[in-house]
Amino acid sequence: MDWVKLLLNWYLENKRDLPWRRQKDAYAIWISEIMLQQTRVDTVLAYYTRFLERFPTVRDLAQADIDEVLKYWEGLGYYTRAKNMHKAAGEIVRHHQGVFPQTYREVLALPGIGPYTAGAVMSIAYNQPYPAVDGNVLRVMSRLYLLKKDISQPAVKKEVENLVKQAFPAEQACDFTQALIELGALVCLPTAPKCFGCPIRQDCKAFQENLQNALPSKQKK
Ligand code: ADE
Repeated sequence: MDWVKLLLNWYLENKRDLPWRRQKDAYAIWISEIMLQQTRVDTVLAYYTRFLERFPTVRDLAQADIDEVLKYWEGLGYYTRAKNMHKAAGEIVRHHQGVFPQTYREVLALPGIGPYTAGAVMSIAYNQPYPAVDGNVLRVMSRLYLLKKDISQPAVKKEVENLVKQAFPAEQACDFTQALIELGALVCLPTAPKCFGCPIRQDCKAFQENLQNALPSKQKK
């Protein structure tokens, strides 16, 4: 069996029950992904639920005062995220009749949404095969394929995006994107990765060469 199947099976058995995984609303997925970009899952949990209770739809967010939005963000930090979300909600109401856009191009055009978030929304909410490459996925893929170049280089990110694109299983983009993230969060850890609990260690080139602790390589700051 190839690693994609093994990873998907592992994910379906082991995934954490997280609130944004219980529904497919693109708006809610977007909120979760913006919160998760710079904040740990444990912290996000409480904020996510409170935020969606107060702003359950794009229109609720667009109509709210920015000061109130910021109040619901207080403690998460990186406030530009909240300001951009409020702006994006306004654009969705004005240009998309309040319906979260459904093409990669339109999603990517929204304020505060880069390739990672656009790929995450397209794959998780719409089950479309667009890669969402964050630090977790860069680490997993650089070990799996033994990519030794510095992962802060844009060319390496591009290469990982292409590898993920090629690996997408038919009709399972949502699970595949989150399986890669989940493996990075639970098993393929930055230090002391749990290789003996890893469902894809047989296919992992870093594991084969015992280089998992040397990868990914990052330039020293
Ligand atoms: N980090 C970024 N996206 C995530 C997701 N969908 N689930 C868990 N952790 C994440």
